[in-house]
Amino acid sequence: MNIDFRRPPILETERLRLQPLVASDAGHMFPLMGDPEVMAYWDVSEIDDPDLVNEIIAAQVQAMAAGRALHWAMRRLADDTFVGACDLSEIDRWHRRAEVGFMLGREAWGQGYALEAMRTIVAFAASVGLRRLTARTHLGNRRSETLLAKLGFEEEGLLRGHILRDGKRRDCHVFGLLL
Ligand SMILES: CC(C)(COP(=O)(O)OP(=O)(O)OC[C@H]1O[C@@H](n2cnc3c(N)ncnc32)[C@H](O)[C@@H]1OP(=O)(O)O)[C@@H](O)C(=O)NCCC(=O)NCCS
Repeated sequence: MNIDFRRPPILETERLRLQPLVASDAGHMFPLMGDPEVMAYWDVSEIDDPDLVNEIIAAQVQAMAAGRALHWAMRRLADDTFVGACDLSEIDRWHRRAEVGFMLGREAWGQGYALEAMRTIVAFAASVGLRRLTARTHLGNRRSETLLAKLGFEEEGLLRGHILRDGKRRDCHVFGLLL
């Protein structure tokens, strides 16, 4: 596997620039992570504390520096607007696999941005030698599952009660893509 974590690549799609996430992106992520609709199927409920979002983004930047993950901010090429973030996490060099993640601000939904970004991320993953990608969705996350199907992911199983959120256990679907 051939990823230089000290120099994560900037990737470009037809309409987007995917730039390695930096600590100051926390300011852009705060409105997304504070939106109950965006967070409806996330592992934690919406966050109203900017310091906590700062900590989460700092931990993601740290995970990149430690060679465990790659996180990108998605910006529109046309006007440089921040529209969301996507990532490859749980990178396992030995087994050549990683987990994908993606989140868009609500005003950016329904325009094919996530599909465009994730097609490029999947191609990037294949190009650096990853051979299996996984994704995990909460039951009912139709938009996410439709996107994964378009990318060629197949449903592989159900994780019963995998997430404890708002005092209740939630089941998750696991999806996989062999590259
Ligand atoms: C999951 C998420 C990224 C999907 O966003 P999305 O915009 O629905 O996904 P896509 O980029 O695939 O866009 C598909 C939609 O764009 C439309 N579209 C418009 N122009 C398009 C284009 N050029 N190409 C493709 N689709 C296009 C499609 O018709 C589809 O619309 P529809 O939902 O009305 O059928 C978004 O809902 C989100 O951020 N959710 C919250 C976070 C989350 O749950 N993340 C996943 C955790 S597993």
